[in-house]
Amino acid sequence: MTLTITNPQTHFPASTAELPRIAILATGGTIAGSSPDATRTTGYQAGALGVQDLLFSLPQLEQVAKIQAEQVAQMDSKDMTCTLWQKIAFRLNAVLAQPDIAGAVITHGTDTLEETAYYLHLTLNSHKPVVITAAMRPATALSSDGPLNLLNAVCVAANPISSGRGVLVAMNNQIHCARDVVKTSTYAVDAFYSPEVGLLGWVQDNRVAFQRMPLRFHSIESEFIGAMGELPMVEVVSSYAGVSRIPVDSLVEAGVRGLVVAGTGNGSLHSVLQQALSAAVQRGVAVVRSSRVGSGHVMRNAAALDDQYDFISSGNLPPYKARVLLMLALQAGIPHVRLQSLFDRY
Ligand code: SIN
Repeated sequence: MTLTITNPQTHFPASTAELPRIAILATGGTIAGSSPDATRTTGYQAGALGVQDLLFSLPQLEQVAKIQAEQVAQMDSKDMTCTLWQKIAFRLNAVLAQPDIAGAVITHGTDTLEETAYYLHLTLNSHKPVVITAAMRPATALSSDGPLNLLNAVCVAANPISSGRGVLVAMNNQIHCARDVVKTSTYAVDAFYSPEVGLLGWVQDNRVAFQRMPLRFHSIESEFIGAMGELPMVEVVSSYAGVSRIPVDSLVEAGVRGLVVAGTGNGSLHSVLQQALSAAVQRGVAVVRSSRVGSGHVMRNAAALDDQYDFISSGNLPPYKARVLLMLALQAGIPHVRLQSLFDRY
């Protein structure tokens, strides 16, 4: 059969013989959630179903890829750990090193998806497409969004135009960059957005199109590939009316290596917190100013804070992603003077 490709962004394989092989690494989440009542979209058990159950209910996958599946974890992602991130990264890099694997899909819970996605974006040792997907409604629910999200994720991973973009997140027909995407709704199916920067692309009916490339450092240009060993203790604190310095002081006493502060507005800090964080810096703790606002930049040296107190600004990285980058940076032994430029590049 001769295949005529009119637009490389809408390539459909001509026959099953030429289908790419995609690895699915399953970790649980609502996409594998189960409830005895199909009308329930709350109170179900996340991660109850195994990857074979997901594949069994989606025979359409056979039309877009040859699937190799493994269960890396089976959990509610609220309980995600740094150790499990490392296990997922290790398996992901191992399967992608197989010459016959064209790309990978990770199924995950939505609650910490954006953190896992960014961790993998910074530790991925491959150009091959990697797509994380999830669901807002359990597999047993009426109108569950999981099967179509999984099918779309495999379509994105199987399409060569998805290469070299680091870790992608495919949800609700949209493709987001792992660095930028955040969960913005507790229950809505369109819960994932990339504030300010917007979508990377979209996927619909096995057509994949991209609007732009991620420009910040990731995957094979990252200096954190293969990072192993325990990640250092980095915590997130927040600034708000009437905040006390007790959490910061306690964390410093507990040996915290880094603190990300979700400040008000442009990362501004309550004076009480500012003093506590300044004292933390004196004790060798790296302090990154981020914002609790949900979109926008934290400008370095707004109100001259950073030079004066030796803080780092997160730019437009939200607090929980700034924590991921800071953990990797401290684990890699990046000296304090280089931390700001790291946040400017990643
Ligand atoms: C989870 O994050 O594992 C549960 C919630 C979800 O996937 O939507």
